[in-house]
Amino acid sequence: MHFAILPLLAATTFELAAGRAVPEPHTVHEKRDVTAGTGRWAKGNRVASNVKVPVRVGLKQSSEALERAESWIMEISHPASEKFGQHWTSEEVVEAFRPASEAVDEVVAWISETLSIPTKHITHTDNKAWLAFDASVDDLESLLQTEYHEHHDETTGRSMITCDEYHVPSHLSGHIDYITPGVKGIQVHSSELKKRSWKSGHHGGHGPSGWQPPKTRPAPHMPKPGNELATCDQVITPACLQALYHFKPLPKNAVVSPNNSMGIFEEGDFYAQQDLNSFFTNFTSYIPNGTHPTLDSVDGGLAPIANLSEAGGESNLDFMLAIPIIYPQTTTLYQTDDLYYAEGGNGTTSGIFNTFLDAIDGSYCTYSAYGETGDDAVLDPTYPDPNGYQGQRMCGVYKPTNVISISYGEQEQDLPAYYQQRQCNEFLKLGLQGVSIFVASGDTGVGGIPGDGAANGCLKNGTVFSPTQPNSCPWLTNVGATKVYPGRTVYEPESAVVDPAGHPYRGAYSSGGGFSNIFPIPSYQSSAVATYFADHNPPYPYYFNGQYNSSDGLYNRNGRGIPDVAANGDNIAVYLGGKFKTEGGTSASSPIFAALVVRINEERIKAGKGPVGFINPTLYSHPYVLNDIVNGTNPGCGTDGFSCAPGWDP
Ligand SMILES: *[C@@H]1O[C@H](CO)[C@@H](O)[C@H](O)[C@H]1NC(C)=O
Ligand SMILES: *[C@@H]1O[C@H](CO)[C@@H](O)[C@H](O)[C@H]1NC(C)=O
Ligand SMILES: *[C@@H]1O[C@H](CO)[C@@H](O)[C@H](O)[C@H]1NC(C)=O
Ligand SMILES: *[C@@H]1O[C@H](CO)[C@@H](O)[C@H](O)[C@H]1NC(C)=O
Ligand SMILES: *[C@@H]1O[C@H](CO)[C@@H](O)[C@H](O)[C@H]1NC(C)=O
Ligand SMILES: *[C@@H]1O[C@H](CO)[C@@H](O)[C@H](O)[C@H]1NC(C)=O
Ligand SMILES: *[C@@H]1O[C@H](CO)[C@@H](O)[C@H](O)[C@H]1NC(C)=O
Ligand SMILES: *[C@@H]1O[C@H](CO)[C@@H](O)[C@H](O)[C@H]1NC(C)=O
Repeated sequence: MHFAILPLLAATTFELAAGRAVPEPHTVHEKRDVTAGTGRWAKGNRVASNVKVPVRVGLKQSSEALERAESWIMEISHPASEKFGQHWTSEEVVEAFRPASEAVDEVVAWISETLSIPTKHITHTDNKAWLAFDASVDDLESLLQTEYHEHHDETTGRSMITCDEYHVPSHLSGHIDYITPGVKGIQVHSSELKKRSWKSGHHGGHGPSGWQPPKTRPAPHMPKPGNELATCDQVITPACLQALYHFKPLPKNAVVSPNNSMGIFEEGDFYAQQDLNSFFTNFTSYIPNGTHPTLDSVDGGLAPIANLSEAGGESNLDFMLAIPIIYPQTTTLYQTDDLYYAEGGNGTTSGIFNTFLDAIDGSYCTYSAYGETGDDAVLDPTYPDPNGYQGQRMCGVYKPTNVISISYGEQEQDLPAYYQQRQCNEFLKLGLQGVSIFVASGDTGVGGIPGDGAANGCLKNGTVFSPTQPNSCPWLTNVGATKVYPGRTVYEPESAVVDPAGHPYRGAYSSGGGFSNIFPIPSYQSSAVATYFADHNPPYPYYFNGQYNSSDGLYNRNGRGIPDVAANGDNIAVYLGGKFKTEGGTSASSPIFAALVVRINEERIKAGKGPVGFINPTLYSHPYVLNDIVNGTNPGCGTDGFSCAPGWDP
């Protein structure tokens, strides 16, 4: 990775001395939660003082805007509101959320004066949300009153610079979201640290860290055409979904809106056209051979994949589920990042979604003056990429589709709270613009992926539940998984997925659910959560305000509840690599639910209305539009997890 390094000016110590007779009080701005467990990252030496690092200071958006954001989105999303459906333009969103100029000036002055950097060398990004500059580790340690250490991941061979805590002047704390490198590390090649004692490994598997590809099994047998409904407890086909959720395909020649394509996010996983062809030929009579998504390539992402044996289980699944539900409406594929970054950037990146959000929402994008662009120069891919896509990072080049389905994610504990809150605000802004976002709730029940946190994927000493992200963000709709159990039919209620045999590498599969440690219960959900606790109180001790480090509780009693809805997510028929198989995962549930919302938007557009946009307030105030899932649990962390119950449950 190449960074243009700023020539640091010779320190004009006399100015500093003059301006700093009394040291300002500093406060801890972020602190690593040591009780959460270190995961796979092993702490190493102090970083050499002369190593130059790219520094990013995330500025808090207008505090007035942040306070009002919830009321803004509720105003246009709650069905009882007079302004329901009156979505904002992207310009209105940028204007409403920009940080106050005085806040920017004060933070710039602090950096400039303390490090003696001319203010013109501190880049302020176009959307007003970030400051960017380069500094030596030595200077940064004194600016933030901290020490940087190298960390190493034995599994992937990745190296990272991070600190356990850092400080900022107390009066600026309210202006700053977070700083990288900080508690959130920046990744570097070991060679840049001049340290070679760590053995380098290889990046394991495709895709961003934490994301779980759906699990695949050989199918028991091909369902018999015309008799598929008899075997939906073994293989879920488009006909099974139609019976479960009471819809029919649109007529082949139906007129659909040119502005209602369904967006699907993919990264490091690629569909194969030949597999789509086999699927449509065998399981639908109404989808022509050759039907494919429209590619909106983000920063060099390309699909389909030519080599059938490298077809991706996630991408194939998403399109085989979505297209039969919405056809002749089209799908739009947001294939994100060039191959180098999509496959892990040779161990240099662990960020997710930022390059995608940049591409569909220009206001989220950031630029810098040194040939680096983007929100976080190291965690997120930087473009142009010498190993791949040679263009500039894409910013606001695609108008987002009305509905977007995302089957990727990590655990909350993998990223600092500030990082997630910041990204969550961006999801809220997309909601203001009328975009509905659906995210898979994760496949490890109340826990996380084994090894992420404690050995069993849970927090603290392996007992505390580990919520997933980004779906803990209240401003998107997250989707858990249901199943038709053996011997049951599509005419009976479904149950939550528990599949102890589960994923061959990552333990049992159960539908992700629980309570966020970062985000409080949003207003639209509070009554549903209160009813659940009142009528079906889970048998576990709990804590409040995400403070799992300071009590014996297993879950956060006042966190945002996960998931919002559910849809089938086991034994899904697919073709993969030329073979008929079944797959399971909440990865399947998200595109199913999202596709049904595309159908609802289709009808609204026909009636001269806009898309539904952020749909949760409508769903929570009209729960009878959903099937209530009352059977099943989501085991994890050595417990049965939470139990399904009448009404909302986690
Ligand atoms: C689709 O969107 C375009 C541009 O946003 C607009 O000009 C056109 O009227 C829309 N078409 C329909 C059918 O809504
Ligand atoms: C599925 O479709 C493909 C054509 O795309 C065909 O070659 C194959 O035989 C079909 N499989 C079954 C089991 O019908
Ligand atoms: C579908 O199209 C592909 C490519 O054009 C072709 O090779 C294949 O035979 C077609 N399959 C069917 C069932 O028509
Ligand atoms: C297709 O992919 C497989 C698996 O990665 C590989 O073994 C094979 O060599 C590839 N075939 C071609 C023609 O590239
Ligand atoms: C990837 O990392 C390895 C080990 O650090 C290094 O030898 C190799 O040159 C890197 N490849 C690229 C394309 O940067
Ligand atoms: C627990 O973690 C929270 C959030 O990281 C922190 O504010 C608090 O001080 C911690 N409490 C203890 C007892 O360590
Ligand atoms: C984990 O910690 C809790 C309280 O701190 C304790 O009750 C429990 O026994 C511990 N569990 C294990 C497996 O050590
Ligand atoms: C209820 O869920 C359990 C798994 O938790 C499953 O074994 C059982 O078959 C389900 N019952 C029905 C009626 O679906």
